Amino acid sequence: MFPLQTSKPETYSMRIRKAVFPVAGLGTRFLPATKAIPKEMLPVVDRPVIQHVVDEARAAGIEHFIFVTGRNKGTIEDHFDIAFELDHTLASRNRHADLALLADDLPGAGQTSFTRQQAPLGLGHAVWCARELVGDEPFAVLLPDMLHHGIEPCLKGMIEQHTKTGANSVSVYAVPMEQTPSYGIIDAVPLADGSQQIRNMVEKPAAGTAPSNLAISGRYVLSPKIFDILGRQQKGAGGEIQLTDAMLTLLETEKFLAHVFDGEVFDTGTKIGFLTANVAYALARPEFGSLARSEIEKLLARRQNT
Ligand code: UTP
Repeated sequence: MFPLQTSKPETYSMRIRKAVFPVAGLGTRFLPATKAIPKEMLPVVDRPVIQHVVDEARAAGIEHFIFVTGRNKGTIEDHFDIAFELDHTLASRNRHADLALLADDLPGAGQTSFTRQQAPLGLGHAVWCARELVGDEPFAVLLPDMLHHGIEPCLKGMIEQHTKTGANSVSVYAVPMEQTPSYGIIDAVPLADGSQQIRNMVEKPAAGTAPSNLAISGRYVLSPKIFDILGRQQKGAGGEIQLTDAMLTLLETEKFLAHVFDGEVFDTGTKIGFLTANVAYALARPEFGSLARSEIEKLLARRQNT
């Protein structure tokens, strides 16, 4: 546990313009689907997982989208580019609604950057690979396999919190206490304004030892000081350079607040999380949510009768 940081000069309050999307992981929990296809390109309903996360960042006001990619991730770059031949064919067939759909999903020209993590040395190392593109300003990190489904985009609330306080921010959500050994869990103290200041983060605590039931959900707003720390960071759990280890070092000098996300969180990097996300997002779609519901109900009824 670390002493609570209060000093103002240690925090940055600058507009959050840039977001880092670490997409260089191997996705081994989703084999064989991810042998040739990046897990970030698997669709949740009709949009790749990565598009949902970029949409969240855009809704939060992000202007520059930095992807840390690896081998076999080229389709992500293609997805965020104009597909000239496809556009041409759609235009010649008067498919204007489809053209508009594709155009809406694209960040503007010059708003995306791609850099390579040359070896999958861990999430912390992937974030460090973005240091030259981020520069000396606070920035967001969004783990693309974690989908946040709610009324308010998760990152938007975090950026608002950062704007008010200048503090680093980590998104969390409540999980059943008995499931805490599967997550990164925070230890936080409530502040007078209703927010929660983080004093420790514990990766996969042993059963019965978790300091809370608030699990880290894969959205961060961080000061650029994290890059110096990551540059010196030794390998941690799993032989990888861990972002959480670097955040714990930063916690010694800077304030971290928790942003409790009010909605559902799906880990689409796991098979069951991916399937559940597809059901939840399909049910929420105005144009076919009720049809999806009746198909699921029919399916369940058939299973009950056999
Ligand atoms: P995960 O551990 O969930 O992703 O990392 P993974 O390594 O792709 O998955 P498994 O465990 O083999 O199934 C969390 C995030 O960090 C990125 C991943 O792409 C994912 O978005 N990551 C992880 C990197 O970019 N580089 C790494 O070296 C490790």
